[in-house]
Amino acid sequence: MTLAAAKPAAAATQAPLVEIADLTVRFRTPTRQAHAVNGVDLSLQHGEVLTILGESGSGKSVTLRTLMRLLPERRTELSGRVSVDGEDVLAMSQRQLIRFRGRTASMIFQEPMLAFDPVYRIGEQIAETVCRHEGVSRREGMARALELFELVRIPSPQRRLANYPHELSGGMSQRAMIALALSCRPKLLLADEPTTALDATVQIQILLLLRDLQRELGMSVIFVTHDMGVANEISDRIAVMYAGRIVESGRVEEIIGQPRHPYTQGLMASRASEAQRGQRLQAIPGAPPDLADLPHGCAFAPRCPQATDECLTAVPVARTLSGSHWAACCRLDA
Ligand SMILES: Nc1ncnc2c1ncn2[C@@H]1O[C@H](COP(=O)(O)OP(=O)(O)OP(=O)(O)O)[C@@H](O)[C@H]1O
Ligand SMILES: [Mg+2]
Repeated sequence: MTLAAAKPAAAATQAPLVEIADLTVRFRTPTRQAHAVNGVDLSLQHGEVLTILGESGSGKSVTLRTLMRLLPERRTELSGRVSVDGEDVLAMSQRQLIRFRGRTASMIFQEPMLAFDPVYRIGEQIAETVCRHEGVSRREGMARALELFELVRIPSPQRRLANYPHELSGGMSQRAMIALALSCRPKLLLADEPTTALDATVQIQILLLLRDLQRELGMSVIFVTHDMGVANEISDRIAVMYAGRIVESGRVEEIIGQPRHPYTQGLMASRASEAQRGQRLQAIPGAPPDLADLPHGCAFAPRCPQATDECLTAVPVARTLSGSHWAACCRLDA
């Protein structure tokens, strides 16, 4: 079977690949409880690319990690529903999770070295993953590793497979990590700031590679970034997160061209219409709230230039603006 075989295009009636409903994530420590995710609703269609945008600490990585159940179980309280490809992720046993990770959903990170064991050759590690998940022979596993290195456009792939992780440059190890993530043909790829640590030219190459792979393989992708230009280039839809909630979501052109939530407007304020790659989110005056002591009303109200007394007491509910564009703000009509 070839890796590059495109999956069938999503039928209009097909159920979403990802459905998150009213997700809350809390972390307990002996002295405090951080409310990292506070009622997130999110869905993703087959073949769709969604970017989650937001300042540091807004709950982007925690949301992605919840989709893979990669949170410290004993200190984490989870509620809500997370479904991927019809499976209830929060109810999965450890055995089911092992099968789920890699085959249904896979994740790439900012730091590729964390994905590999430094003492084994990269090719062996990819082959081993394939063998474990698919029960194929070592020889077939190695053949697949070569195919994957070709897929992620690694030059001299046969030679590179014999390298140890530290022998690859930043861009090459990022490609190798993408190969590993794709080794079991996941339907969903989660990418948590995968290009942030790279220099600008390599960032663009990796981004274009991810975009091409997404199209070739027909995968769904959730991308996390601080970079508006990246969001603009790669995604179909954007969800904007603040203090563990999605405050606005819509198609890229709606969010970048007609942001309606004051927080999104703040993010887009600097030359939003000509968002360029490498342009980081503009700093909004003030600081995000303490997640252990969230405001009673809208979490953004203390920093919001449009806030009124109502915003300090009422948690805004999501309101549809048009099609798939919605925002949660009490001042939408103001
Ligand atoms: N394992 C954990 N234990 C306790 N608190 C955590 C844990 N993981 C995340 N948090 C807290 O949850 C909040 C949300 O973190 P998260 O990593 O999702 O932010 P983020 O939006 O990805 O930020 P960044 O852009 O900096 O990566 C933060 O306040 C963080 O300190
Ligand atoms: Mg993060």
